[in-house]
Amino acid sequence: MALLASTSLLLAGLYLRTTSSVQISETPSQAAGHPPVFTLPPSADRGKNILPNIKDPKAIDPQTVCPGYKASNLQDTKDGFTADLDLAGPACNVYGTDVEHLALSVEFQGDDRVHVEIRPRYITPGNETWFLLPEELVPRPSARQAYTPGPNDLTVSWSNDPSFSFTVKRGAIGDTLFSTEGKRLVYEDQFIEFISTLPEDYNLYGLGEVIHGFRLGNNLTRTLFAADVADTIDANIYGSHPVYLDTRYFTVDESGKLTYVANAKDMAAKYVSYTHGVFLRNAHAQEILLQSSGITWRTTGGSIDLYFYSGPKAEDVIRSYQQSTTGLPAMQRYWTLGFHQCRWGYDSWAVLQEVVDNFAKFEIPVETVWCESHSSAPRMGRNDPVRFGYEEGARFLAQLHANHQHYVPIVDSAIYAPNPENPGDAYPPYDRGVEANAFMMNPDGSIYYGAVWPGYTVFPDWVGAVLNGSGAIDWWIDELSRWSEKVAFDGLWIDMSEVASFCVGSCGTGNLTLNPVHPPFGLPGEAGNLVLQYPEGFELTNSSEAVSASSALSTQEAASPTTASPTSSFYRTTPTPGVRNVDWPPYAINNIHGDLAVHAVSPNATHHGGYLEYDFHNMFGHQILNATYRALLKIHEGKRPFIIGRSTFAGSGKWAGHWGGDNAALWAYMYFSIPQALSFSLFGVPMFGVDTCGFGGNSNYELCSRWMQLSAFFPFYRNHNILGAIPQEPYVWASVIDATKTAMRIRYALLPYLYTLMARASLEGSTVMRALAWEFPDEPWLADADRQFMLGRAIMVTPCLEQGASTVRGVFPGVGDGGKKTVWYDWYTGKAVTDEIKPGQNVTIEAPLGHIPVYLRGGSVVPVQGPGMTTTESRRNPWGLIVALDREGFAEGELYLDDGESLEPAAVTWVQFTATNTSITAVPQGDYVDNNTFGNATVMGLAKGPVRMWLNRRVLDHANWQYDQDRAVLLLYGLNHLFPQGAWTDKWEINWE
Ligand code: GLC
Repeated sequence: MALLASTSLLLAGLYLRTTSSVQISETPSQAAGHPPVFTLPPSADRGKNILPNIKDPKAIDPQTVCPGYKASNLQDTKDGFTADLDLAGPACNVYGTDVEHLALSVEFQGDDRVHVEIRPRYITPGNETWFLLPEELVPRPSARQAYTPGPNDLTVSWSNDPSFSFTVKRGAIGDTLFSTEGKRLVYEDQFIEFISTLPEDYNLYGLGEVIHGFRLGNNLTRTLFAADVADTIDANIYGSHPVYLDTRYFTVDESGKLTYVANAKDMAAKYVSYTHGVFLRNAHAQEILLQSSGITWRTTGGSIDLYFYSGPKAEDVIRSYQQSTTGLPAMQRYWTLGFHQCRWGYDSWAVLQEVVDNFAKFEIPVETVWCESHSSAPRMGRNDPVRFGYEEGARFLAQLHANHQHYVPIVDSAIYAPNPENPGDAYPPYDRGVEANAFMMNPDGSIYYGAVWPGYTVFPDWVGAVLNGSGAIDWWIDELSRWSEKVAFDGLWIDMSEVASFCVGSCGTGNLTLNPVHPPFGLPGEAGNLVLQYPEGFELTNSSEAVSASSALSTQEAASPTTASPTSSFYRTTPTPGVRNVDWPPYAINNIHGDLAVHAVSPNATHHGGYLEYDFHNMFGHQILNATYRALLKIHEGKRPFIIGRSTFAGSGKWAGHWGGDNAALWAYMYFSIPQALSFSLFGVPMFGVDTCGFGGNSNYELCSRWMQLSAFFPFYRNHNILGAIPQEPYVWASVIDATKTAMRIRYALLPYLYTLMARASLEGSTVMRALAWEFPDEPWLADADRQFMLGRAIMVTPCLEQGASTVRGVFPGVGDGGKKTVWYDWYTGKAVTDEIKPGQNVTIEAPLGHIPVYLRGGSVVPVQGPGMTTTESRRNPWGLIVALDREGFAEGELYLDDGESLEPAAVTWVQFTATNTSITAVPQGDYVDNNTFGNATVMGLAKGPVRMWLNRRVLDHANWQYDQDRAVLLLYGLNHLFPQGAWTDKWEINWE
């Protein structure tokens, strides 16, 4: 871990380095004879030197000074009970002002869910110090059905001994899921703390967004505060998802008695597991301390609004969480599942054309090209007339669309604020936004001006729009619509939405005429500021070059504005009774940027209606997705919006997908893509992928080859690269071309399967990428398995994640009982691979460069289609089926079909497949018509070859099948002429004997 931590620092250093510390400075590119221009000095983005509470040896432990509460006035309600909570002694006011009187409410909201809420008893209207998260921004789950006691019931009890505590148990097995017993509840206007014990060596997942192994471990503090920062291990990054899964493994004795087992690894024992979920509906900056004794939850505002989901399987929790709480994920358009190519630095239509041409030349599919430099200073709604002229763009896009390819531009969250004294600088979207009261303000009501890529900027006020009816959302819809008339984009990429600002406070106020043209740090690739990272593993022979490169890097690290000097004194605040300190809250979270105002809009920025940014910081990224979704609904009427966003919150999946942010071209980050994806499955954002081949630093052929193959099995598949790094499109290296084509052929063949999984996810909240532990809940040794994953229930991917390796070690879950349980088939040969393998056994698998091990799970029928160069082409190819029989000779699967784009498709068809060791049956239902024929099928795990075959009782020609005894595989082919109307017009059956 030490090594990983330092590489991510290096990445942060690369990205956040400074240029100069004077007011008027020369950007490196202007040093050669051009007049100096104004650049924001690095000092503009420095805040106070904050020592995070968790790192402060002198920090007061609230448990030692706060009195806790006493409950009284218990009342039964229809679905639970309520009580009054009153401070049990003198206020401690440790990190805020104690709220003396609280209200407890417990509501059983369904047979798998209970809501425990603690909030101020007397809410004075307009008194924002007793803050409740508005339902308009984050809906509250409500009772779905009357509480019916059942086997998986949760129970809630409380106690006043020694002070108020509550305990949630799983009734059926009497297991304590969450208990604050023996700990004091602390509830202040700027600090809430509640603590639960957890079993020894607990398994918790979620609490993102974080770059960490999938299982969070028992020694980690999770800080939730959206930050614009490269993917730094264990730090707070872009999104906030205050939700976790807790999986517990038990042994079962003969009488059926369960015994909890920590770190269970005895492969001979029999286990069962139970998983429950916990969600805190709170959007404030918060910290969750995972320690060996349990979990401590601290938030800097809001209320205790807790939801417990009983599972008992992880999939049950995730489904219930999405259905009841966050909303179901947005269904994606079919084309979005094709491959996306992006890079920071594609800086004209001509360059994009070249990229598209190169893909064609090397015969690699590319569905979508992405672009982020459509304007010299990134501005939503205005293209650079020279490099991205509208007419040339219209020609480029018409051709692209004619080839069934797509275009997605970046939209930065901050809006350019022009120089008011220079008419040539006029920027109508800004003027219209001012007119519409669309922007965030300073406390005095004037506009808040920060600084981002374009220079000085303003920030749309989504919170004011939702809560107060001010104009940001309508203005946004209008602006994006205007832009879409000039540029026919197919989706939007929302960036910098934490929301980032490169200076502390309203630095543009009174300064707009200065027009900074450059951020207060050097850009990667600028003269004197090159991306100095050698490709990982590159053997340096020129040692002097290596020394100068590494010393340059350490200078940059030292200059990083986020690195506090160890010798400087720290800034601490103490609470003033009744007054919140939103700028420097007395409890200092472990924010990656230190001071909350660094690299973000300041906490005292004000929304229309008087709301403070302090209370809504984690909402910006979520609400810009809401606004953009609404805009795209208008622009592409009736079609599903395609949005990829950076900052997310619980529920963002209903509007958008997410990419993993600024990772690095390092092997460690390829690995981290898997736990990050699995976490976003839990968060209800299935449309997830990372910057394939790595964003920061230089990639190399080996890493890129492995990564292009791995990401082919992620729902969102995009290669993206930082400015100034060496190119990494999949056609750059010969070996990557081959590896990419191999993996893309599989992905494109699997598109119908992937699309069906996406449909299920958006209809009922199931997952697309899955942890092995979710699919095989009785194998405790899978609790931290995150170097392999499942795509749906049928496919397992075991990627090689190590440099220089040609094998990979992986497990085959579900085997056992002497191989009588799950059987796995090699995707490439169709041969069963698990006959000799024991449960939990780490098997060495051949994985030469260019080969990604993929397995099919016995018991599955997977629909496939001939892979084309685009998803449109693929959708016109004949169908096929892959049947992987289980030990009993049975398999099943399904297929979802619609027009691939309508928000509410006029017609849909579901096809259910079943197979046995003598038959395959397809039963379509629905009215979506697909005329593609059915061409072939592969049946794996068939012990005996057929002698005769029939299709719907008509004898099949022997020329249509072939049986391979050695592999136990039956191949059927050349069937197309037998399905002249299409594969799924009627029920059919192929059988054999
Ligand atoms: C941010 C994005 C990154 C993008 C860059 C420049 O760092 O996360 O993907 O390339 O900004 O726009």
